[in-house]
This record gives sequence, structure tokens and C-alpha cells, in this order.
Amino acid sequence: MASARSSRALRLALKQAATPRVQQRTFVSAVQAASRTAATKPAAVSSLVQQTRGVKTVDFAGDKEKVYERDDWPRDKLLEYFKNDTLALIGYGSQGHGQGLNLRDNGLNVIIGVRKDGTSWKEAVQDGWVPGTNLFEVEEAIKKGSIVMNLLSDAAQKETWPAIKPLLTKGKTLYFSHGFSPVFKDQTGVEPPKDIDVILVAPKGSGRTVRTLFREGRGINSSFAVFNDATGKAEEKAQALGVAIGSGYLYKTTFEKEVYSDLYGERGCLMGGIHGMFLAQYEVLREAGHSPSEAFNETVEEATQSLYPLIGQNGMDYMYAACSTTARRGAIDWSAKFKAALKPVFNELYDSVKTGKETARTLEYAGRSDYRQAFEKEMEEIREMEIWRAGKAVRSLRPENQ
Ligand SMILES: NC(=O)c1ccc[n+]([C@@H]2O[C@H](COP(=O)([O-])OP(=O)(O)OC[C@H]3O[C@@H](n4cnc5c(N)ncnc54)[C@H](OP(=O)(O)O)[C@@H]3O)[C@@H](O)[C@H]2O)c1
Repeated sequence: MASARSSRALRLALKQAATPRVQQRTFVSAVQAASRTAATKPAAVSSLVQQTRGVKTVDFAGDKEKVYERDDWPRDKLLEYFKNDTLALIGYGSQGHGQGLNLRDNGLNVIIGVRKDGTSWKEAVQDGWVPGTNLFEVEEAIKKGSIVMNLLSDAAQKETWPAIKPLLTKGKTLYFSHGFSPVFKDQTGVEPPKDIDVILVAPKGSGRTVRTLFREGRGINSSFAVFNDATGKAEEKAQALGVAIGSGYLYKTTFEKEVYSDLYGERGCLMGGIHGMFLAQYEVLREAGHSPSEAFNETVEEATQSLYPLIGQNGMDYMYAACSTTARRGAIDWSAKFKAALKPVFNELYDSVKTGKETARTLEYAGRSDYRQAFEKEMEEIREMEIWRAGKAVRSLRPENQ
């Protein structure tokens, strides 16, 4: 099996080397090819591929977009590109941890800046960062850095901006992983100086995933964008940093589009919308006399364990095709009704994001002195909902959990 995969990757790599620089491939084949070659390509082919592969134009359902790949930035090129830079990574939470360790493993000169003796400081020490060598307080790290990677929480970016802004002198680069602070500058006050490059790389996943995919030799997909291009090199720098932090491939976007789509997505299908839909379906089943286990299995367990992974692997038609004729017929009919019912809610949500209402709510919530207790209370309420208590029992029955 492994050797079949290797020879497939070899054939694919050689085919790519022989084809023109700009290719049109489907999204799925591009992604599959990227992960196959990344995982299995032999060294000799790797250098051939690196020389010949370039930025790709990928046809996303009729819309052609450029996609930038890790193979365009092999490690030697990254080390050469950043040889005069000190990357001052500020904040060591979810993203700071993942991006910082990946940068360090890639051999770049990275230092961490966090509050002395806070939770992040202690975690950084545990991860091998050394106080006074590559672990400093925030302001000191910024002074030492040529590229300042602001990975504080979005609320902390607002709070610390008055102290950080004067340190962002000409020649430095400011990096974010979310467009939140500069796009909503009226609320955050984060208005970067015009004479420095301001760039973004936003991994499409948690910092933990940024790290685990990197360690597995894979890479997360990220978007990148330029806010200020003071040097004429901002875009290139963003692509290089995107690869350096562990991205497998990168899509170009703008700060505005990144933050609008991100806030919208997480409130919608990624988290809030799906939770609301689970709750509504479960409640109706329970009110109609179904048991908690039956209601949970038909709402969540089958979705996460069987059907959603099929969508992830090969798309919605693949999932439909894998189901019974009965399920397929009803699901296709009802999807149109759900779409019609939900679209007004999604429109309302997008407006709420774009007008800054969601930002205001986030900043107000994160700025409360009892924020952590309030958050924990909400988590407790969710944990204690019947649906999620039933879920715990259902999960315990999975063979791997016994
Ligand atoms: N998490 C994700 O899944 C994800 C994904 C993509 C992009 N992003 C973006 O990445 C950025 C970082 O997010 P994150 O989730 O990694 O953040 P996080 O886990 O909430 O990390 C917060 C960091 O900010 C520090 N901090 C908080 N308040 C501070 C203050 N007043 N002064 C100094 N430091 C303070 C914390 O230090 P202490 O330990 O000392 O409190 C910690 O190091 C954000 O822009 C976020 O939108 C996040």
C-alpha cells in the first residue's frame, strides 16, 4: 500500500514537473496532490518539484484563484529569506503556541513576548523557551523584533495597543492572524503606522491543529492578506511567513474579507448555527416522546461519526450517494426548505458582522472583569443540557472508549 502510494506520488510529481507552471486543477485534486506529495515524495523528486512548481491557479467552481503552496518556500529558502530577521511573537495562547513552535522547529530566529509570570509565560518555559534568551516581556520582545507577530487575544490587542504602537518603528513588520483589530479600528483603536508593512496569515483552524498538522508533516490551510505595503515586499513576506508557521497552502484575501467571513462562519455553520440546529432537532424528538439516546443518535452521533466525515472526504453528493434512496429523497427535498428558512438568519448575521455589532459584543464581553467566570458558567450550562449529557453516555459506549 505504501509503495503504491509512493509510486503514485512519484508519477504525479513527475507529471507536475512536465506540465506548464500555471495549471488548472480541481480543488479536491489540488489538495489531494499537495498532501500526497508532501507526505510521500522522495528527496530527488522533491527538489525537481520545488524548482518547477509555482503559484497555481485553481478553478474553484468556475472562479479562478491563485493558491500558494508550501513547496514554493522550501526550508533553505525560508532561512535565507528571514536570515536578518528576529520574529517577535507576542502572546502565547492557542495560536502563539502552535505558530511559535513551528517557527522554532523550522529554524527561524523567533522570540516570545508575554506577561511576566502569567499563564503563557509558564507554558512558554515548559515548552523550552528560555527567559532572557528567547522569552521576554511584551515590550522588550517588540523592541528586539523586526517582525512583530501580534498573537494576543483580540480583546488584548485593543487593550495593549497604546503601549505597542510607539514601538512599531519604521522598518518593522506587523503581523496578525485575524483582521479583527485593524478592520474594526473605530472600536479597537488599532490603526497601524502607514510606514510599516502590515500583513496577516490566518490559519483555518485552532493553534493546536496548526501544531499537530505540522508535526504530522502535513500543513494547515491559511489565508493571507496585506493591509499596508510600505516596502513593496509585503505580499511575498506574508506568503513566506504563512509557510514558516506551518501552512500547507495559502489563499489570498483582504483583511476585511478575512474578518467578515471568519466571524460569520464561526457564528454560523461552524459553531453557532450547527449547535442551534442540533438543539432544535433534539427538542422536537424529545417532545414527541423519543428517548434521549435515540434523539442524540439521530441528531449528533450519526452526523459526526458517519455522515459529516463523508462530506469532508468527497463532498455532499458523495454523502447522499452513500445513503439509502429513502434518506436521499427526503434529505434533498428538505434541504431546500431549510435553506429558505435559514437564509434570512444568515443575512442578519452577515449584517451584524459587517456593521461591527458582533465586534462590539465580543469586546464588551471579553472586557468584563468576570469574563472567565461568565464563560465557565455558560460552558457549565451547555455541559448540563440533556442533549450533551446524553451524548456523554452515547460516546462512552463507543468500543474505543470501553
Ligand atoms: N484560537 C484560534 O483558533 C484562532 C484561529 C485563527 C486565528 N486566531 C487569531 O489569533 C490571535 C490569537 O488568538 P488566540 O486564540 O491564540 O489567543 P488566546 O489563546 O486567547 O491567547 C491570549 C494571549 O494573550 C495574552 N493576553 C491576554 N490579555 C493580555 C493583556 N492584557 N496583556 C498582555 N497579554 C495578554 C495571554 O497571556 P496570559 O497567559 O499572560 O494571559 C495569551 O498569551 C487572535 O487574533 C485570534 O483571532 C485564533
